[in-house]
Amino acid sequence: MSATGEAHGKIILCGEHAVVHGRPAIAVPVSQVSARVTIERAGHELVIDARDLNQTYRYSDLDPNHPLGAIIRLVLYELGEAAPPQATLTISSTIPIASGLGSGAAVSTAIVRALARFYGHTISTKRVSSLVYRVERIHHGTPSGIDNTVIAFGRPVYFVRPSPPSVPEGIAGREDPQPIIKPFTVAAPFRIAIADTGIASPTRIAVDDVRKGWEAERAKYEALFDRCAEIANAAFDLIQSGRPDELGPLLTDNHRLLREMTVSSPGLDLLVEAALRAGALGAKLSGGGRGGNMIALVTGETAGSVEEVLLAAGAKRVIMTEIG
Ligand code: PMV
Repeated sequence: MSATGEAHGKIILCGEHAVVHGRPAIAVPVSQVSARVTIERAGHELVIDARDLNQTYRYSDLDPNHPLGAIIRLVLYELGEAAPPQATLTISSTIPIASGLGSGAAVSTAIVRALARFYGHTISTKRVSSLVYRVERIHHGTPSGIDNTVIAFGRPVYFVRPSPPSVPEGIAGREDPQPIIKPFTVAAPFRIAIADTGIASPTRIAVDDVRKGWEAERAKYEALFDRCAEIANAAFDLIQSGRPDELGPLLTDNHRLLREMTVSSPGLDLLVEAALRAGALGAKLSGGGRGGNMIALVTGETAGSVEEVLLAAGAKRVIMTEIG
């Protein structure tokens, strides 16, 4: 007997960091990269084979706060299963780790789906998202929840968490109030180039630094967050009304605001400038920043030259994706 679960990666189009402080953000799935989990009945205990990391774990040996052990435990509890299955759970993923493409949330989501199928249950998308959110809190401390939401829904989402995320009390702690989630349809598809700086950067540190900046200079940071909110709302209107080619200046402005929040880096700035010089309509860092990925809005005509220039400027990988 076996079951599989899958989940795609994601990018944040606009509003990252400000979203942790109650402002809206927009995220979209990236179908070119995904995490896949297979569970096959085998042996006398649950063994986790994390292929890409070259690691094998016995579930019974995992620390309670290990993200893999934590998500499995949460799902078993959700499904009313007292003991783990006697099985091998194999994880494989093409999503680069710690680069803002949602690798951790996608692996957790794929695990939830595979385990639910293994036991013949269905878990609603909203519930999948909130189970994964609990584990995201182990990775990130105070995540907004946008990553688990876009990945569980597998659709573009406009997302607002009106009250700040609570400091984690462990995965069994109380649940945060529900965010506002608007999955939406893209009226006219558009292309995004995603370029990887090759620098792994923990989101947690960047989020902490923005919080410290806000504590030190509240008025300045509130104004930066408000401007990000205006950008996210304007981008939402353009995408829904079929005018994605007008998004460019909004994305580039969002990058400037993120720079002011100190979450850009010389590598990200270099790639943003290179993309704009090569004809991208707009460009910005995407996700936690300091490293990870940047995105550029391209057209059929500029995609090739932007990709070439990004690679020449030092990008480790460029993924072209069509949104919508
Ligand atoms: O997981 P990342 O690196 O894509 O970043 C998530 C976006 C942040 O707004 C920086 C953090 C959050 O929890 O929303």
